[in-house]
Amino acid sequence: MLALAFLIKVYFIYELLRSSKVSSARITFKSCGEAPAHSEIYWIRLSETNAPFQVFCEQEKFGGGWLVFQSRYDGTTSFNRTWNEYKYGFGDLRNNFWLGLDKLHQLTSVANYDLLISMANYLDFMAYQKYENFRVDGEDKLYSLNVSEQNTGTAGESLLAYNGANFSTFDKDNGQITANCASEMGGGFWHHDCRIQTKDRSNVNGLHSDRGLNNGIWWGEFGGINEPLKHVRLHIKLKN
Ligand SMILES: *[C@@H]1O[C@H](CO)[C@@H](O)[C@H](O)[C@H]1NC(C)=O
Ligand SMILES: *[C@@H]1O[C@H](CO)[C@@H](O)[C@H](O)[C@H]1NC(C)=O
Ligand SMILES: *[C@@H]1O[C@H](CO)[C@@H](O)[C@H](O)[C@H]1NC(C)=O
Repeated sequence: MLALAFLIKVYFIYELLRSSKVSSARITFKSCGEAPAHSEIYWIRLSETNAPFQVFCEQEKFGGGWLVFQSRYDGTTSFNRTWNEYKYGFGDLRNNFWLGLDKLHQLTSVANYDLLISMANYLDFMAYQKYENFRVDGEDKLYSLNVSEQNTGTAGESLLAYNGANFSTFDKDNGQITANCASEMGGGFWHHDCRIQTKDRSNVNGLHSDRGLNNGIWWGEFGGINEPLKHVRLHIKLKN
């Protein structure tokens, strides 16, 4: 009798564990546009043959459906990182992070995406700039950047100077000038002739500092070097 009670108990515990396992099964979405309407971390799976991965979806601002692939909040995470770190991603999806070039390539090589860059300076002025058709090539093409010239927004255009450029990090300099731009500018990017710091340039992966550094975080048409940025986020969204 006692043995039977024990068996029933074991069975109940087993059932409980099994059902809780089922209810916590991973729910994946094809895009942030399909994910629930509040900004959160969700699992994205592009197809049955792709491994799912986690992303932060911005569902409230700018009409929602935006997958965030770069985010700067404060200086607690260095962006002066290696090629492999930029390839696979680093940081915390709720805070400062880079999603990873492999995932960016995976996403943007099979569908058309728009790019949105949002920013805020230390006076809490905010701005954004949106570009059509953002694509990152594969590692064989050094993750080169391809974005359409069509752009709109309140910040101004400070990205197209990098169009077609290879990605560079301090340990893998794929730029055309002799200077190691990733090392000088404080972070990996599609660096292109970083000794020129005119209004059509920007440095979103630079050093997080309010001091107005050449290699700080800045956007040429939105105050430039002298008005460094406190917050920056780069997002992509599937075109309809
Ligand atoms: C971007 O890719 C398109 C083809 O999809 C090509 O025609 C264009 O030249 C590329 N732009 C740059 C800057 O590499
Ligand atoms: C990208 O890298 C390749 C290979 O090193 C080089 O031939 C090419 O000029 C680079 N492209 C740009 C725009 O710097
Ligand atoms: C970035 O890191 C490299 C390697 O540690 C270093 O040489 C370089 O000075 C750093 N750049 C900045 C701006 O701190």
